[in-house]
Amino acid sequence: MNTDFHFLSRRGFVLAMVGVAASAAIRPAPSRASAVDERLIKVGPGQARLAGPDRPITPVWAYDGTIPGPTLRLRQGQQVRITVENGLDEDTTVHWHGIRLANAMDGVPGLTQPPIKPGENFVYEFTPPDAGTFWYHPHADSLVQIGRGLAGPLIVEEAEPVAVDRDLVWLLQDWRLASDGQIAGGFGSPMDASMSGRVGNVVTVNGTVPADQGVRAGERVRLRLANASLARMMALRFEGHRPVVVAIDGQPCDPHEPEGGRLFLAPAMRIDIMLDMQGDPGSRHAVVDDFYDGLAYTLTTLAYEASPPLRAHPLDAPVGLPRNPLPEPDLTKAVRQEIVLQGGMMGGGKLKGVGGMMGMGMMGMGMNGNAAWAINGISMTGDGHAGMAPQFTLKRGVTCHLTMRNETAWWHPMHVHGFSLSVISRNGSPVPHRQWQDTVLLAPKDTIECAFVADNPGDWMLHCHVADHQMAGLMTVFRVT
Ligand code: C2O
Ligand code: CU
Ligand code: CU
Repeated sequence: MNTDFHFLSRRGFVLAMVGVAASAAIRPAPSRASAVDERLIKVGPGQARLAGPDRPITPVWAYDGTIPGPTLRLRQGQQVRITVENGLDEDTTVHWHGIRLANAMDGVPGLTQPPIKPGENFVYEFTPPDAGTFWYHPHADSLVQIGRGLAGPLIVEEAEPVAVDRDLVWLLQDWRLASDGQIAGGFGSPMDASMSGRVGNVVTVNGTVPADQGVRAGERVRLRLANASLARMMALRFEGHRPVVVAIDGQPCDPHEPEGGRLFLAPAMRIDIMLDMQGDPGSRHAVVDDFYDGLAYTLTTLAYEASPPLRAHPLDAPVGLPRNPLPEPDLTKAVRQEIVLQGGMMGGGKLKGVGGMMGMGMMGMGMNGNAAWAINGISMTGDGHAGMAPQFTLKRGVTCHLTMRNETAWWHPMHVHGFSLSVISRNGSPVPHRQWQDTVLLAPKDTIECAFVADNPGDWMLHCHVADHQMAGLMTVFRVT
């Protein structure tokens, strides 16, 4: 019996019963909770005006023809079915970065699914368990496909809406453009591969070099920052403002102001901030990225409307977000594993002043001609393929205490598929704010300790999200049985 009948008046009930005879028997009313959210995404060539309306057109690869791809807004706990149509001339897949889902839906070619051939489809189905800020991107020919524009925001909404005036997403992309607006070739050059990766020369916010961001005095904005760059690290400062970090990589943390007011966003990382707009009406405040020494630039500017403040005092609602249902690691019974990052050029770390050193200090991996990096002495190159031997195997349900040690002179945002990591310590000091991350940034020589419950069976990737580094060997696989 259809439970919706509870809400009908007596007369409505009678009419509905008549209706049952006519139609409900063949087409029962769908129950809201179980309805599948159906989506379609087309992957193919497109065009974008990245640098502004009066600048040359850039041929790109795009989801649904837009840069970035459409913002997928899903509901926590609601099943979604996303059909991906490949209109490229090469294989692709889609990886739902940070979503904890069944291994077969993870989008790694060869490892979790056959690649989607040109002209073919793949249907992804999952039920996002966690609310938060995620993103999607290809996991085939990743360096080129992400570098040509394939990336989109994926937002999973909380069951109860969060009290803010506006909920915004800034998907940040870094492009290496030639002067005619074309995307520069030379993907995967040995220099990019063994040093900082392909850092570009144009940074876009939601697909364009941003002009001002209009804001209103007194409003509270939830701003979802996502770095979809191939290689560019960012450290954002909101001048004149005090952003409060409320989530990292989609997972709520204890609300806190970042150290020195700088928000570190390495490739693939997301940070949700609450921004109370406490500037004066009509004022302007730069948003600066000063990650690389001597290469700071203004990403965009917060431009206040002249109108009077929306409210006299900041919104009187808690900024903290409800926690997601993550399994709590039990460190007293943990299995220990260690990942050691090796290789790359010696003595790097800076963007400038690294020239003229090609070949020096590069790891000789032997087996693989284009390997510049290794994990525990093994270089897995490319995007994933069938038959990758797992680095370690975990029994389903155990807590894994994972140590990641960076022996290289370079920064690496290490990303684990299928799980979120409880970050315990960095170089021996406890990491505060009870934070969980799927992408953990290791500075040169850093050691990170983290933990997770291996509750999801399958073969899972663990790799550096600087695409050049991944392609050149900074990748591994582990198995949960
Ligand atoms: Cu977003 Cu395997 O990566
Ligand atoms: Cu991922
Ligand atoms: Cu790396």
